[in-house]
Amino acid sequence: MSVLIIYGTKTGTSEKCAKYLADKLGCAVTLVNARDGIKIDLAPYDTVIIGASVRMGHIASSVSKFMEDEEEALLKKRIALFMCCGFTDKENINRQLELNFPPALRNHAVAIKCFGGELHTDSSNKLEKFVAKMAFRADGDIDLTPELDYKAMDELADIIKSYSLQEAR
Ligand SMILES: Cc1cc2nc3c(=O)[nH]c(=O)nc-3n(C[C@H](O)[C@H](O)[C@H](O)COP(=O)(O)O)c2cc1C
Repeated sequence: MSVLIIYGTKTGTSEKCAKYLADKLGCAVTLVNARDGIKIDLAPYDTVIIGASVRMGHIASSVSKFMEDEEEALLKKRIALFMCCGFTDKENINRQLELNFPPALRNHAVAIKCFGGELHTDSSNKLEKFVAKMAFRADGDIDLTPELDYKAMDELADIIKSYSLQEAR
C-alpha cells in the first residue's frame, strides 16, 4: 500500500493528525502540506487521505483547489477525508463537512472523520481568538477548549489498513 496524506493547516493541528495517521498506518506514507498552486503526481499512490482544519467555516483554499483539480484522478483512488475543527456537535460538523468537501469525493471516500481540534492560544493572536469565539457563538455548541479525537484517527487508520489486508489475501 502506498499512501499520500495531503493536509491544510494553519497552526499545526492537522499536520499533527496527518503525522499520527502516518505512524498508525505503518506503511510507506508521503506527507504533503498543501500550498497554493501545489501540483502532486498521484500516480504512485493507491490511497490518498485529504485533511484540513476549518477556520471561519472554510478549509484552506489550497486543499479545496487540490480536490477540485484532481477530482477525476481521486475518484480512481481509495480516498479518505478528515477535518479538524472546534465544533463538537454532529450538526455543525456535518454542515462543515458538506460545505467543504465535494459530494463526489464524500460519496467515494471509504472513511470520513472529524478529528476534533486544538485552539493554539499562543500562536493565534488576540483578534483571531476573538474571531474564533464569535464563530462558535454564532453557530452552535461552543467548545473553546476543543480536543483531538485520537479514537477517530485510529478508526480511520484501521479502515485503511483493513483494505490493504483484503488486497494481500
Ligand atoms: C480564527 C479561528 C477561526 C476558527 N473557525 C472555526 C470554524 O469556523 N469552525 C470550526 O469548527 N472551528 C473553527 N476553529 C477551530 C479550528 O478548526 C481548530 O483550532 C483547529 O484545530 C485548527 O487546526 P490547524 O492548526 O490545523 O489549522 C477556528 C479557530 C480559529 C483560531
